[in-house]
Amino acid sequence: VLVARNCHKAVYHALYLNELQAEYLYPAIARNGVQGQITATQAEASLRENPDIAAVILTSPTYEGIISDIKGISEVCHRYGVPLIVDEAHGAHLGLGGEFPENAVRQGADAVIMSMHKTLPSFTQTALLHLTSERIDAEEVERYLGIFETSSPSYLFMAGMDACVRMLKEQGAQLFADYRRRLLDFYGRVSDLKCLHVMTAADFTAEEAFCVDDSKIVIFTGSGRAGEELYHIFLEKYKLQMEMVSGDYVLGMTSIMDTQEGFDRLLTALHEIDNELYADCSRLVKESAGEEQSVEANSFVRSIYVPNPREMQIYQAMALAYREVPLDEAVGAMAADYVYLYPPGIPIIVPGEIITAAFVEHIRQCIRLGLKVQGITETDLFRIKIVYF
Ligand SMILES: Cc1ncc(COP(=O)(O)O)c(C=O)c1O
Repeated sequence: VLVARNCHKAVYHALYLNELQAEYLYPAIARNGVQGQITATQAEASLRENPDIAAVILTSPTYEGIISDIKGISEVCHRYGVPLIVDEAHGAHLGLGGEFPENAVRQGADAVIMSMHKTLPSFTQTALLHLTSERIDAEEVERYLGIFETSSPSYLFMAGMDACVRMLKEQGAQLFADYRRRLLDFYGRVSDLKCLHVMTAADFTAEEAFCVDDSKIVIFTGSGRAGEELYHIFLEKYKLQMEMVSGDYVLGMTSIMDTQEGFDRLLTALHEIDNELYADCSRLVKESAGEEQSVEANSFVRSIYVPNPREMQIYQAMALAYREVPLDEAVGAMAADYVYLYPPGIPIIVPGEIITAAFVEHIRQCIRLGLKVQGITETDLFRIKIVYF
């Protein structure tokens, strides 16, 4: 299977359970460090090189709202006779109005997974699997659902999903129109920020992103400060819960259920924080004046999501004995487990890949920044599992 490397860990678990041979597609990393799109050209090059590929799977939109050209990629996949599976966990609200981009179901993907609970008003654990073509055998999918799902489905969840769908049917047009109005107003009122920066589609080149879902509010600290610091200011001072934090940004999720009052509170917080940061910002700008300080050089994500040398497939490495060693001793060894930041849950290394000195340095940087690194244990030292045989 051809897998976008920025897929959620759920996809990697499927690779493991089904003993799949994976080839990866690495997304473009935008100048601001955010992982960008997968392109049809990339998919086509890999399909041409690897004629045994049986399916393609990618995430669109990403956590940050980056959308790939699903129509173009599905056309390529179909030309090569393989289905396209889109993890649209973050896109259940697409195609329902509010001038959001079209969803993958209508763009030709063969299987589309949406989390209603992420961007629509629905209980957690209420996802949808859309099968749209004959390229995927619905009966076989049904069989596996019987294996992987609980045999005691929740009527509470199902009733919640029904209530959500009914609400969208009856009031969706109005709710999405109001939502768009609030978003437009919000983005219009953040353009005067001096230090903080709220991401928009204009931050990306056509190569980096096909389009952007602006329901995700991605706020860059713009001051050399860590995203984690900003996250705590939002939470503790303003009682605003951000969804995710990365090296130099925090991400807030919005939905049709957010009121104008909520957006106003966020706007007030943004402007107050921005004013406080301004003094610091101008000092930093002065210090760096004259040095061509590129956005790229500041990119944290660019440095961590890089291809690692691969020795074997995930399922092969996970069948071998392992032990835990201090990070520094692990350089040159093969990873026996995943290491990822959660959120977003995208692995930085997967079992079967080789631990490099650069990888160890990136992990140390994540730890220093206070990010939640999973797959590393902390006892006396930071330790990692390596294959040991
Ligand atoms: C892109 C993506 N896919 C899949 C998932 C898994 O969804 P769930 O937690 O609902 O199982 C997530 C969860 O965060 C995600 O971000």
